[in-house]
Amino acid sequence: MEFPRGSKSREELLRRLNEYASRDMEPLSGRMWGHTYALGAEDVAELGRTLYAQFMDKTMLDFTVYPSVIKMENDLIAMVSSLLHGDSNVVGNFTYGGTESIILAMKGAREWYHRSKTGTPEIVLPVTAHPAFRKAAEYLKMKVVQVKVDEKTFKVNVEDVKNKLNENTAAVIASAPNYPFGTMDDVEELSELALRKDIWLHVDACVGGFLLPFLKDETLPKFDFSLDGVTSMSADLHKYGYAPRGASIVLFRNSELREGTVFAASSWPGYPVVNTAILSTRSAGTLAASWGILQYLGREGYERLAKRVLKVRRRLTAGLGELGYEVLGNPVAGLMAFTSRKFDVSFLPNEMRKLNWFVQYQPGSRELKFPKSIHLTIAPGHDQVVEDFLRDLSGVKLPREEPVELPEADIIASLGIKEGELPEDPTLINRLMHEAPPDLVEAVLRMVVNRYIFKPSS
Ligand SMILES: Cc1ncc(COP(=O)(O)O)c(C=O)c1O
Repeated sequence: MEFPRGSKSREELLRRLNEYASRDMEPLSGRMWGHTYALGAEDVAELGRTLYAQFMDKTMLDFTVYPSVIKMENDLIAMVSSLLHGDSNVVGNFTYGGTESIILAMKGAREWYHRSKTGTPEIVLPVTAHPAFRKAAEYLKMKVVQVKVDEKTFKVNVEDVKNKLNENTAAVIASAPNYPFGTMDDVEELSELALRKDIWLHVDACVGGFLLPFLKDETLPKFDFSLDGVTSMSADLHKYGYAPRGASIVLFRNSELREGTVFAASSWPGYPVVNTAILSTRSAGTLAASWGILQYLGREGYERLAKRVLKVRRRLTAGLGELGYEVLGNPVAGLMAFTSRKFDVSFLPNEMRKLNWFVQYQPGSRELKFPKSIHLTIAPGHDQVVEDFLRDLSGVKLPREEPVELPEADIIASLGIKEGELPEDPTLINRLMHEAPPDLVEAVLRMVVNRYIFKPSS
């Protein structure tokens, strides 16, 4: 596709984009069990869009330009800190997503480590921690030290954490909860360990930060700043905060710990650049929307929504059991995963897609001893469709587990990969990802995405 010479009409552009989106699923329809948080009502999304549009053209690049931006960010941090039991010393920043919050927290930990040490700083993380930490380690030249999780509970093995600590440890990670199974690490025990050993403990509450505090019907262990050993936390507004995409928060126990994350540059001829996030220019739209949605819903609104998530999770747990599936571990928030001991669940996403449902396949790994599973992210709006979902699921007949044979011919073509497009049926790839060692899967994914999927349109 060449850069256009003349102008195209608004209608033509809308038509073309609608054509592009013709195979997309509708994020707020409730048919998707992942990547979206449908509420089953329009008011929150509508408020978000209005506030987003109102502040869309203002940038967060230079906080001296728009006083409203600094005010909204400070209000937001104060609200979230109080929710997560931060005291008056807790500070934080608005970012564009969980990954950015996590990279900033790891940057803080790295700079803290380098105040007294020179070796390669290590991040000790459960194998279930989000890949954002691996990305942080890659960007920041830190070393990932992986810790086992219990094979039944999928919680981090604290003894293994203890074994992996050494003088190069810069941070220990706990998930509240983790993405693959929705199970929560024992943050209380890790907090005690962190205090005893004087180690930076980051709690990744990207998923749980705006859900766990509102789950009134559950007795949940502590996971936030109420535990003295918690150093930093990440909590995503664009997940269970129900804000538009591009909104997260990173919190630090005090401003000294945050210092290494602030970027300042004055040795150039332009204006002094000071950033509290990784990105520089970014629209203030998602900040304004988050600021508004938090107060529009308030604790009572979030509690009502959390109750609905919990009800759906309980219905799914019962329904999946009746269908012969096994829920993995003991999910505590709005995420869960299930598998089958007899049948091959790698066929499920495609079968459910034919019925207009999105469920996410998790290949697991033979080598790491994780089963293939199906991940579900539960949103409040799923209470309107959960019975339809279980009924459709009951009609899907899966083949039995059998070893997969590697295709002989051109491997890319046999996987159904075409340039600039995703394969129509990803089942074979799903199955292979379980069989192959994770290092190989990562290398192939990197190669395929780089060489085949993201290609300029011809
Ligand atoms: C537990 C957890 N942490 C971090 C992230 C990264 O968040 P984001 O996709 O907003 O960068 C996710 C995303 O799903 C997550 O589930």
